[in-house]
Amino acid sequence: MQEQFNNVKQSAIIDLENVSSMREINDLKVKYVGKSGLVTSLLRTMKDIAPEMRSTFGKMVNDLKEEVLSLFAQKETLLKEKELKERFEREKIDVTLPGKSQTIGSLHPLNIVKNKILNAFCGMGFEIFEGPEIDTDYYCFQALNIPKDHPARDMQDTFYFTENILLRPHTSPGQVRTMENKKPPIKILSPGKVYRADDDASHSPMFHQIEGLVVDKGVSLCDLKGLLDEFVKIMFDDDTKTRFRPSFFPFTEPSVEVDVTCCKCHGKGCSLCKGTGWIEILGAGIVNKNVLEMSGIDSNEYSGLAFGLGVERITMIKYGISDIRTLFENNVKFLKQFNRR
Ligand code: DAH
Repeated sequence: MQEQFNNVKQSAIIDLENVSSMREINDLKVKYVGKSGLVTSLLRTMKDIAPEMRSTFGKMVNDLKEEVLSLFAQKETLLKEKELKERFEREKIDVTLPGKSQTIGSLHPLNIVKNKILNAFCGMGFEIFEGPEIDTDYYCFQALNIPKDHPARDMQDTFYFTENILLRPHTSPGQVRTMENKKPPIKILSPGKVYRADDDASHSPMFHQIEGLVVDKGVSLCDLKGLLDEFVKIMFDDDTKTRFRPSFFPFTEPSVEVDVTCCKCHGKGCSLCKGTGWIEILGAGIVNKNVLEMSGIDSNEYSGLAFGLGVERITMIKYGISDIRTLFENNVKFLKQFNRR
């Protein structure tokens, strides 16, 4: 009997010597201590043992089981150490290698400036309305007090699909669409792309404008001045001042051209402001009564102020960019300069 026990133990030792993975160990466990394993089946021979010997026999089987299990445990420890060592070897990291840096994108300067302008006015209670880029002659001109064949159309020469359908030359149609659909008080901004038959260092066939409109009882030029004074302080700096010069737009009466003190020399005179200390930033005025009436607003009860600014122009002034075309060339070296991270 003892010999039988020794044989089982010896066979386990030999089997374990040839094992090289945890999976094989588990298979061997089944072979020896599983339900019908070699050690377990020894218990089944109990019935052939003399009754007085049975307790000794049971103890011997249990001892053998423990011995075999401890052989397995030793081998398991060895195998785990070996596998861990191999894994460390395989997954070795060279911490002295330079890391892979991520390239982080940034907003286009035009979007940075556009967002800043929109934020400034939204902080003063303006809502945003975006109109269509392809529009009709009526919304782009006639409803803005510019009749067909009027010479004032030269100011905004654009691209026509048909006689009546065109790429909008300004965002001013946003005023008309808003007034047609909304009763005063109105306080809106209309941002978007606009198109003109122009192409040189300071003009692009496509550029961006933001139109502003306020309609309410008693709106005056003083409101316009207060609004724009606040805006230029947010946009440039706290010392920036505005100046109104008389001008002409068919949709406003009176009309003004708005200048700001030069953000580079603060009014002393430099190359950016061509020595004058002032830079023109936008056109504005009090909404012409004809425009209010054509959009269904009673001009005896309400008045309005309007302004239109070019996002490219403000961006060029703010960042000292001399050629508008650099804003559309998508040269990454140029654009990277605006990444503030
Ligand atoms: N629409 C004008 C342009 O594109 C800009 C403008 C001037 C808009 C005066 C206005 C305004 O609302 O009052 O040149």
